[in-house]
Amino acid sequence: MPLPAPVSSDINAAADHLRAGRLVAIPTETVYGLGANALNETAVAGIFTAKNRPNFDPLIIHQSTAERILRYASEVPDEARRLAEAFWPGPLTLVLPKADAVPDLVTSGLPTVALRVPDHPVARALLELLDFPVAAPSANPFGFVSPTTAQHVANQLVDRLDFILDGGPCRVGLESTIVAFPGGVTTVLRKGGLPIETIEATLGHPVAVRTHGSSRPEAPGMLSKHYSPGNIIRLVDTIEETEDYPVGTAFIRFGGGGARVQRKELGLVTTYNLSPDGDLGEAAQHLFSVLRTLAVEQHPLVVVERLPETGLGRAINDRLKRAAAR
Ligand code: TXA
Ligand code: MG
Repeated sequence: MPLPAPVSSDINAAADHLRAGRLVAIPTETVYGLGANALNETAVAGIFTAKNRPNFDPLIIHQSTAERILRYASEVPDEARRLAEAFWPGPLTLVLPKADAVPDLVTSGLPTVALRVPDHPVARALLELLDFPVAAPSANPFGFVSPTTAQHVANQLVDRLDFILDGGPCRVGLESTIVAFPGGVTTVLRKGGLPIETIEATLGHPVAVRTHGSSRPEAPGMLSKHYSPGNIIRLVDTIEETEDYPVGTAFIRFGGGGARVQRKELGLVTTYNLSPDGDLGEAAQHLFSVLRTLAVEQHPLVVVERLPETGLGRAINDRLKRAAAR
């Protein structure tokens, strides 16, 4: 049995593990990733095993600058270049035709590769030390909610990886927005930490959005039952307090003031407010932690209020919809 992975903020030690072909959980501004040397197929295979991830689900590779990561694309369309300049480092992943150096295992045999430059000081310092890109899916068992703290990673994967690099809680809290260019059309494949409106404002035109799953989804973040915390979740426009709810029901709200967490000792419900001030960024930061807490608390029912369908609200509603899918 491997020893449980140490949780540490030692960037040099993390780099040594990656150079040796081992698995390291790394902090990013979006969520924690389960990283390995993307050019080492044995190391990459270890990611799929550790996550129980089907190998038809390709990985994102990461480096510290646009220049260092774009080497792994064989072609960079003009709009991709503009997005890279505007949003890297940041919560954006670009899917581009792959360079030969990228192993097929990373891309699940696709002719394209997903590239990202994370905006996290610890991740960037680590990547600066490495002469290879790091392949990193979110550091959770396949189908589960992504981790936004080192503790989340440790809770589920501690005996399945070699090292957990602690960079504190993730600032964005939602996975990156994935953009591809099929047939030259700029297309969002996954709503995420970079709002679609922000992308459209930069490009000066609307983009296509194609985030619905199929049996062999291009981005399995799109599988409808993904991000599942294991509770029965009902997504509603407004919570009607007068309705009859089973004892132990939890509400997830947004805005309206009050406390972030309110437990009614003898009452029916526990209320989690993603952001009492109605701040979508704060709601995104808290979303996955709240879903994890709910999974542990085993409420018979979780009633969630849909957020405004704008900015980060679109990505949050997407994750809630998938969490509610059964
Ligand atoms: O924020 C993030 O993107 C985090 C951090 C760690 O960077 N990573 C992440 O990875 O969310 P993961 O593996 O959980 O989600 C990556 C998504 C998958 O749904 C995968 O299908 C899609 O990216 N993807 C990867 N390569 C692709 C490609 N060539 N074409 C289309 N989709 C691709
Ligand atoms: Mg994931």
